Amino acid sequence: KFENYILAIESSCDETSVAVLKNGQELLTNVIATQIASHKRFGGVVPEIASRHHTEQITYCIDAALDEAGIPLEELSAVAVTEGPGLVGALLVGMTAAKAFAWAHELPLIGVNHMAGHLMAANLPDSGGPIEYPALSLLVSGGHTELVYVAKEGEYKKIGETRDDAVGEAYDKVGRVMGLTYPSGKAIDQMAHEGKDVYNFPRAMIKEPGYEFSFSGLKSAFINLVHNAEQKSEVLKKRDLATSFQAAVLDILLAKTKSALAEFPEIKTLVVAGGVAANKGLRERLAEEITDIKVIIPPLRLCGDNAGMISSAAYAEYKAKSFVKLDENAYPSMAF
Ligand code: KG4
Ligand code: ZN
Repeated sequence: KFENYILAIESSCDETSVAVLKNGQELLTNVIATQIASHKRFGGVVPEIASRHHTEQITYCIDAALDEAGIPLEELSAVAVTEGPGLVGALLVGMTAAKAFAWAHELPLIGVNHMAGHLMAANLPDSGGPIEYPALSLLVSGGHTELVYVAKEGEYKKIGETRDDAVGEAYDKVGRVMGLTYPSGKAIDQMAHEGKDVYNFPRAMIKEPGYEFSFSGLKSAFINLVHNAEQKSEVLKKRDLATSFQAAVLDILLAKTKSALAEFPEIKTLVVAGGVAANKGLRERLAEEITDIKVIIPPLRLCGDNAGMISSAAYAEYKAKSFVKLDENAYPSMAF
């Protein structure tokens, strides 16, 4: 075959998504069914509800993706699926669908790490890829905050991560005390552009060596400030809270990323990916402060969870003929 087509499935959290990638570069379709409306009222993702929605959506998403890609089934070269990290019940729905599909159509199966997916979204032409190696990646999402050294394609080494909350999680938790609906990262980002940094929140670990992050102190400082004001019936300006919170978050992310770039001067590309990479303030500061190497931040539609990013990571495995068997399991706490 001259062409290759990978069908990829993502179901690790609250998005059911199916994509088809042609020749490792051309995303023919990236169908995303989001469940946010169902989880909003609970202030976060409810695992059991997530699994049930994935079960309802998965076959429709596969059909819709094949339809949109406009290629006959016989043309497919492999099936890829997120095998971790994520919610175990949610992962199992995608994995079971992928295994059944691979078995029925006699296709090889590729297991993909969700975080490698976020990272490899940067390798697609729509993101400004390809990634030049060695690369450094700042991965920021609702469940993860980590710096990853990528010596070459597929060779990941985590050099630091958060010891408590993930950045996206901190956004969602402070958003809740501000009365915002889940997920609140985008709303806080918008408000942050309208206020002033008057609260000077703590910037944990910023001066310490190494690449560990910590956001729980910042989150607690924020929540305490709001609760104390409530008790005294003081009204704080939401936009100043947002600006002050975001300034602390961005100072921490930029400081750790810059010190890693200084320690590893051989790095050619900085990849910033994951749901929080959608943050406008983060994009602005990266553009201002990191100017001497190639910086890739995928477009918004490839930052949040989607199967397009999974297909891109899967292509590297496909080239390496790294396939998994049909009895492969899900890995809820899979790491690099
Ligand atoms: O990668 P993702 O879609 O799902 C996970 O794998 O976690 O990331 C979702 C997270 C949520 O916490 C959400 O609040 C955050 O990304 N997020 C943002 C922005 N857009 C989404 N955080 C800050 N600023 C944004 N613009
Ligand atoms: Zn994600």
